Amino acid sequence: MAVSREPIQKEPVRLAIEGQDLELPVLEGSEGEVAIDISELRKKSGVITLDEGFVNTGSTTSAITFLDGEKGVLRYRGYPIEELAKHCDFIEICYLLIYGDLPNAEQASCFRSSIREHTLIHEEMRSFYNGFPRDAHPMAILSSVVGALSTFYQDSLDPSDPRQVEVSTHRLLAKLPTIAAYSYKKSNGQPFMYPLNKLDYCENFLQMMFATPTEPYEVDPDFADALRLLLIVHADHEQNCSTSTVRMVGSSNANLFASISAGISALWGPLHGGANEACVSMLEEIVADGGNVQKYVDMAKDKNSTFRLMGFGHRVYKNFDPRAKIIKATCDRLLAKLQLDDPLFEVAQKLEEAALKDEYFVKRKLYPNVDFYSGVIYRALGIPVQMFTVLFAIGRLPGWIAHWHEMHQSPGKRIYRPRQVYTGQTEREFVPLDQR
Ligand code: ACO
Repeated sequence: MAVSREPIQKEPVRLAIEGQDLELPVLEGSEGEVAIDISELRKKSGVITLDEGFVNTGSTTSAITFLDGEKGVLRYRGYPIEELAKHCDFIEICYLLIYGDLPNAEQASCFRSSIREHTLIHEEMRSFYNGFPRDAHPMAILSSVVGALSTFYQDSLDPSDPRQVEVSTHRLLAKLPTIAAYSYKKSNGQPFMYPLNKLDYCENFLQMMFATPTEPYEVDPDFADALRLLLIVHADHEQNCSTSTVRMVGSSNANLFASISAGISALWGPLHGGANEACVSMLEEIVADGGNVQKYVDMAKDKNSTFRLMGFGHRVYKNFDPRAKIIKATCDRLLAKLQLDDPLFEVAQKLEEAALKDEYFVKRKLYPNVDFYSGVIYRALGIPVQMFTVLFAIGRLPGWIAHWHEMHQSPGKRIYRPRQVYTGQTEREFVPLDQR
């Protein structure tokens, strides 16, 4: 059984504010993270804290994912990501994140069958796709159709009913790949392919993306395995923008479908889920410019230029990105196997080599991040650039759901409602329309 424990109470800190001496509790989490608890600060002193972008604010305690950016550590429910990537399929990871423990054989089998039961989407939902323009971004389709699940599956919307929450959880995990693949088929004009429940989660998604009714389609096991790894390494990353959005929306008691639809919209932004798309666009630009990798490395180092090498560096991981390490091997293996005639892959390899031995990048600890290799792998699998963030959403789904569950189960659960420091006009006299 996974153990999650109450934070340890440490020696309180004292804050002198406007002639008042206040004592604030200090807590320590299970991996040594120390936090000053300011939840009573305003009540006791009338002041609030200000932290634009929440860079210093813990919004919650959580027992799902631990990461240490300095040491390159990422663990789901205590298990190192490297071990999980080696031994598990994506469905086991979903179970682990959502229920807190790896499933035993019987639990895994029940969970898999339940997910299989829900892979179809309501036939009338298919007609939604006719209303979207052919060139609609698949992320826009994804968030709209997931939001619309609340209209078709009204029997599982109550966040306070554990059975209904369970059903909507399984529905989401099962239907998101179907919804995603249909958005791709819509864009290229091919007929939608129904899910095939004899296939596993990743094989089924590839089948719905790439099969057509005219010819048999064989799933390449290396493709399915690459997808499995990518989904696993993206499955959770604690309180990031989209996960915090899911918690925020869910805190108002909005149903799970509505909360996840909001998370998908947050992920769509280029500062969040869109980085691997930006990386492949940069590689395309280098290819179109004659493949001169050194020119772009020099440009990234030039302080007079705003250009950055996409796919290098990370806000949290300062030594290496453990997820990048895991998928790099798969990336190399796939490229060696496929021998694709695409100059982009050669440019990617040259860029990686050039940056890894360049003093500027070495000194600043700028290593290729997960987006560098995931962009290249998606490209090798034949997944179009616009679908990259959609794949990220399928991977992140169990993390969002786990956080939504955890937020609802927390004894201190209340609606998320930050405060502000008002800097606008102070009170002024109203002027009637004819005198303005
Ligand atoms: N190319 C060139 N120089 C870079 C890069 C880069 N990709 N990233 C950082 N630097 C330089 C900065 O110019 C700065 O140099 P200085 O110390 O001489 O001023 C130094 O490295 C530190 O950079 P910061 O911007 O302070 O690092 P920060 O932690 O704020 O940024 C970020 C991290 C945003 C990821 C950055 O490295 C970047 O823009 N990378 C490219 C975009 C990208 O790949 N994003 C995906 C991240 S992974 C993910 O989100 C799943």
